[in-house]
Amino acid sequence: MISKKEYASRRRDLMAMMQPNSIAVIAAAPEKIRSNDTHYPYKQSTSFSYLSGFAEPSSVILLIPGRGQGEVVFFCRDKDPLRETWDGYREGPAGVVANFGADDAFPIDDIDDILPGMLEGKDRVYYAIGKDAEFDKQLMVWVNDVREKRGSDANPPGEFIDLDHLVNEMRLIKSAAEIKLMRKAGEISARAHCRAMQLSQAGLFEYNLQAEIEHEFMASGAAGPAYTSIVGGGKNGCVLHYIENRGKLRAGDMVLIDAGCEYQDYAADITRTFPVNGKFSSAQAAIYDIVLAAQAAAIEVIAPGLEYHLANDATVRVITQGLVDLKILNGDVDELIEQGAHRDFYMHNAGHWLGMDVHDVGDYKIDNHWRIYEPGMVVTVEPGIYISPDNTNVDKKWRGIAVRIEDDVLVTKTGNEDLTSGVPKVREEIELLMAS
Ligand code: GLY
Ligand code: MN
Ligand code: MN
Repeated sequence: MISKKEYASRRRDLMAMMQPNSIAVIAAAPEKIRSNDTHYPYKQSTSFSYLSGFAEPSSVILLIPGRGQGEVVFFCRDKDPLRETWDGYREGPAGVVANFGADDAFPIDDIDDILPGMLEGKDRVYYAIGKDAEFDKQLMVWVNDVREKRGSDANPPGEFIDLDHLVNEMRLIKSAAEIKLMRKAGEISARAHCRAMQLSQAGLFEYNLQAEIEHEFMASGAAGPAYTSIVGGGKNGCVLHYIENRGKLRAGDMVLIDAGCEYQDYAADITRTFPVNGKFSSAQAAIYDIVLAAQAAAIEVIAPGLEYHLANDATVRVITQGLVDLKILNGDVDELIEQGAHRDFYMHNAGHWLGMDVHDVGDYKIDNHWRIYEPGMVVTVEPGIYISPDNTNVDKKWRGIAVRIEDDVLVTKTGNEDLTSGVPKVREEIELLMAS
């Protein structure tokens, strides 16, 4: 759990980065209709969560450094016995003061009357520019309200600064408490992949393994999948974001599962590829071992002080060399790398930041230079080889084979830590687990 103290210190750190005489306006995510009058399960904006831990919709937080009556102001849904009977508990203004670190709180229904007064006299407003068109409009309505109400004496803010830029940089470096949660998300997700391996057999459907994976997530106290689970049997694994998960699993095929849970707001992201019946064929093994070697080479070069791109470069080199060794690619390895020849078989990058969002926030480059790893960053490492069933340029035995192997790696002071090591990835270990 993230403590109230940590949320407060995040807000303080953010306020310390804001320029003088500023206000930050942070809006909760809107609710979304799924069908007719039913909603998708509500998902709070991750930056809003990061700064508050408050999960209710229709909320706005203001950070006003130097405000005498309190720097942290919440607007939230008022208590309402009738609505709470239908939709569940609400904190209400008193609740967010008692439990979420608000210094001052008001019902959201009063925001149009109160917020313009808080903008008045401020030079600049920090907010997530362009993230939510409705909110962009709303903010301008409030700013214009300052102008209209105060006439010629009005002193509305004239400068608007992207808040996400500051928050994203904070979120990129995980605290000890965040790392603990990410470790837990990794452990649960690893266990789920083990369960799928152990229960896999020909004749099942992809959704059966999805159900086993997600069962383990929920039974372990996770909120659910952090993203739509991908379960692709055989050539379906060649579709990078395959989420139909309706196909039948066939003996002799492999199945690629990319699934990770969300545990207390933090995502895990694991991919394993294994034979439906527990035994790799020699063609599958050959491709598999290249991907595994590529991943190992990438993990080698994830440590403080090293540049972000090195891991990707390492995967490209190992995969290109491996495809040349199997005669799937022909030519000089350096020239093939130069040409990007691997792109027909490995069409994505080696990974991405991981955190509250599965594709987490944070810049990959600063002033056009690759980011240098620092302790507390978490990155996925997920090379793959996907040989299209329609690729007539390669020998038939390779067609339709798809392998991705993905783990979540924390940068530590001395190197890195694999947060998802609880599920095997060496072929012999997978076969052993599947036989048990
Ligand atoms: N699960 C999506 C990804 O691996 O990036
Ligand atoms: Mn993934
Ligand atoms: Mn990923």
